[in-house]
Amino acid sequence: MNTLRKLLWPTYTRTKLYDKATDNIPYDQLIKQNAAIVVKGLKRGTYLDLGCGTGNQAIQLALNAGPDARVIGIDKSPEALEIAQKKYERMKREYVLANISFIEGDIAQPLPFSDSQFEGITANNSIYLVDPFSPIIEALRVMKSGSLFLMSNPRDRETSSSLAIVVDHISQKKEEFNNHYGKVLGDIALSGHILNRGPDYFLILPFEFALRYNLFNVDSRFWPVERWINEIEKARKLSPYQFTMRPPFESYSNQNHTIVIEKS
Ligand SMILES: C[S@@+](CC[C@H](N)C(=O)[O-])C[C@H]1O[C@@H](n2cnc3c(N)ncnc32)[C@H](O)[C@@H]1O
Repeated sequence: MNTLRKLLWPTYTRTKLYDKATDNIPYDQLIKQNAAIVVKGLKRGTYLDLGCGTGNQAIQLALNAGPDARVIGIDKSPEALEIAQKKYERMKREYVLANISFIEGDIAQPLPFSDSQFEGITANNSIYLVDPFSPIIEALRVMKSGSLFLMSNPRDRETSSSLAIVVDHISQKKEEFNNHYGKVLGDIALSGHILNRGPDYFLILPFEFALRYNLFNVDSRFWPVERWINEIEKARKLSPYQFTMRPPFESYSNQNHTIVIEKS
């Protein structure tokens, strides 16, 4: 079981399955929305992305914050970080964006950053893979007063299904193709898109199941939002930091809940 668990992320990332799984419109909307919320239109400062994986959320922060800002992405998977670095190099050739440093590290441990240094922090689909207490407290420690910490995590499995993301993606693609090519050509383009992308979904399913149903003993927390709120309230009681929590909202075709904390 341990070997399987250790193999999960390297396989997921090395085979680029993760990027295939997230190459959909709802995911794109999610990371863009997260970045816009956290950056708040500021065009300076340093942003942190916890569990950055193959770099998508960090790159969105960098695009949103612009060239005078900086972004640090931290992840424990060297395979994912390698992909993130290559993706960033490619983006740099085409877009103006903040400088990004991708570093290897464990978000379940104290973070290697000094107090109150970040203008904003994101953790997209990453904190649910660790005991959330330490990353929440550490995020509060390293963020500046007045800045935002956003975490988006999958909802509990009773109320969510990854199929909803696929369905939402297809219906948005249909609209995009039909608007662009007209109904008949648009439907043909959509069929081509589904034939091309459909098999990816089936390749990804075993990984989804492994995470969701703990098949490979992967310790993941598909919790209802109330349980996340409890963790945050625990952090309020047990840490010296003061903060306000905005009302949580659903995102990623309602498969995630997103919680935003503002440090006082
Ligand atoms: C589902 S991916 C999300 C990646 C990225 N945030 C995104 O939105 O595309 C989860 C990431 O969390 C990372 N991760 C899991 N446990 C971690 C830990 N203890 N420390 C650092 N990263 C961790 C994994 O390596 C993986 O890249």
